[in-house]
Amino acid sequence: MKWNQEERILAIEADRRYHERYFCENSLSTPGSWLEQPDDFVMRQARSLGPGAYVVDVGCGPGRLAVPIAQLLKPFQGRVLCLDYLPIALSRLQQAAHDAEVTEQIETRAADVANTCLPPETYDMCLAWSVWEATIPCHEIVAKMKELQDAAKRGGRNVLMFNTDMRRFDAASGSELDASSKLGNFKTADLVASLRSLYEGWLQIRIEMRQDEEFVRHDEREDRWTATQVLFAAAKP
Ligand SMILES: C[S@@+](CC[C@H](N)C(=O)[O-])C[C@H]1O[C@@H](n2cnc3c(N)ncnc32)[C@H](O)[C@@H]1O
Repeated sequence: MKWNQEERILAIEADRRYHERYFCENSLSTPGSWLEQPDDFVMRQARSLGPGAYVVDVGCGPGRLAVPIAQLLKPFQGRVLCLDYLPIALSRLQQAAHDAEVTEQIETRAADVANTCLPPETYDMCLAWSVWEATIPCHEIVAKMKELQDAAKRGGRNVLMFNTDMRRFDAASGSELDASSKLGNFKTADLVASLRSLYEGWLQIRIEMRQDEEFVRHDEREDRWTATQVLFAAAKP
């Protein structure tokens, strides 16, 4: 799907509003929120990191993943660079890092996924988890993945999660609504094929799929979003 500039700005603004509101209302300790638990898939990958590991978390949010990874790396002098474009995400993350006593291990930087300019051959793990679909159209995501590939050291990993085939329903009536506000809404099969081909020559450690459902409240009504989450980890040869 082609986007004109105005549609693109509106889609990005809608996503920013959603996250700002969500991070205002929920913290890493809010029961039942998606911030409450780190993801097992990510933590399994993080447990393989060695001494002095350097991780970049692109679209880190308030630190659901970055903080437990920093805790894991603390005894081994590892570090996590955390990038997000929302000031509230970074300030919440700094507070969570302080509470978890990992401020030394975490660096935060305001950055847009579209302009991360990651240096090549630098990171032991490049993490980009649930950040793509709202911000960048599919064809640009493929170019960004190339940047993440370059940014990984030899033996370093790319650990990615995409929401695909996203659909939106009116929660009360069940009727399906327009979901075109998601810029990078891949078809699941297309994304899996792209990952397989882009990461040819890498050790494709794991690919997993999960069904997800989320309720998003607006002032007067609620949407139910469904998606197939594609979880992917690969190591650079
Ligand atoms: C669904 S949250 C995921 C947060 C974190 N990765 C996790 O799994 O807990 C998406 C995050 O990406 C951030 N984000 C979305 N678009 C972005 C962009 N263009 N540049 C930087 N951050 C972005 C949002 O602010 C939000 O914190």
